Amino acid sequence: AAFAMATVLASPVLAKDMVVGFSQVGSESGWRAAETAVTKQEAQKRGIDLKFADAQQKQENQIKAIRSFVAQGVDAILLAPVVATGWDEVLEEAKDAKIPVVLLDRNIDTKDPSLYLTAVTSDQVHEGKVAGDYLVKEVGAKPCKVVELQGTTGSSPAISRKKGFEEAIAGKSNITLARSQTGDFTRTKGKEVMESFIKAENGGKDICAVYAHNDDMAVGAIQAIKEAGLKPGKDIMVVSIDAVPDIFQAMANGEANATVELTPNMAGPAFDALEAYKKDGKEPPKWIQTESKLYTQADNPKAVMESKKGLGY
Ligand code: AHR
Repeated sequence: AAFAMATVLASPVLAKDMVVGFSQVGSESGWRAAETAVTKQEAQKRGIDLKFADAQQKQENQIKAIRSFVAQGVDAILLAPVVATGWDEVLEEAKDAKIPVVLLDRNIDTKDPSLYLTAVTSDQVHEGKVAGDYLVKEVGAKPCKVVELQGTTGSSPAISRKKGFEEAIAGKSNITLARSQTGDFTRTKGKEVMESFIKAENGGKDICAVYAHNDDMAVGAIQAIKEAGLKPGKDIMVVSIDAVPDIFQAMANGEANATVELTPNMAGPAFDALEAYKKDGKEPPKWIQTESKLYTQADNPKAVMESKKGLGY
């Protein structure tokens, strides 16, 4: 009986009546596309009516979408904020309308944490640190010039993944961060910026490793390294974040060295929190943290790639 009661209480009683607006960043990466797919699947599974708005990487579009969700009187809003700053005003409007906002995968800078119910994100500083620690271990005492492909300027993952990586290499005098530029989390820009790094660094011969804030930029960098006549994964190590199927393929080919996993399922925990909040007024923790696991070539990349299918990929 106790189990039956627990099952009843845990079931998403109000889910089928919930209308949720989702302001998504865009479709800059494979990971982002998977997050969108999983969010739609999770909503459908729970009977939630999801209003989806693609902001095409522009904060002004996200602000418009939030205002429109407020005008429609949705029950809750999911926001994956493209950049960290500039949200207070529009989130106050949502708060005044008593619409809870859940942040997905990126954080915001605000002095007023009451502007959002909870944030479902990874520890992005830790992700950068995990990638950096891997590199430090692999490089050992050898001199190593690293180039960095940053994510979207002003976004929380770009700021934090840089910080965590720098923490990992701090005090390692053999490892230097020679160049660092944004590749906007896209394959095309990752390739373009890597080409310019290669040009500036003796045709790439002086580069020991590339650290990319996401796998898509790493895949672009791999292409640039190959076109320069060098071997990615060997002549230039490739370390990144996300764990999308394409990077496992690259790892299986020996062309990428490691990635840090970011789950595309941010919506599952977000909807759980919203359902509990709507049903019982239960306040979730301010931060629902997702895992950050390191994968290397030693982790059977082909099998991991297969296991990812159906998770939005
Ligand atoms: O905010 C998460 C990041 O955004 C992902 O790592 C990246 O692929 C996406 O664009």
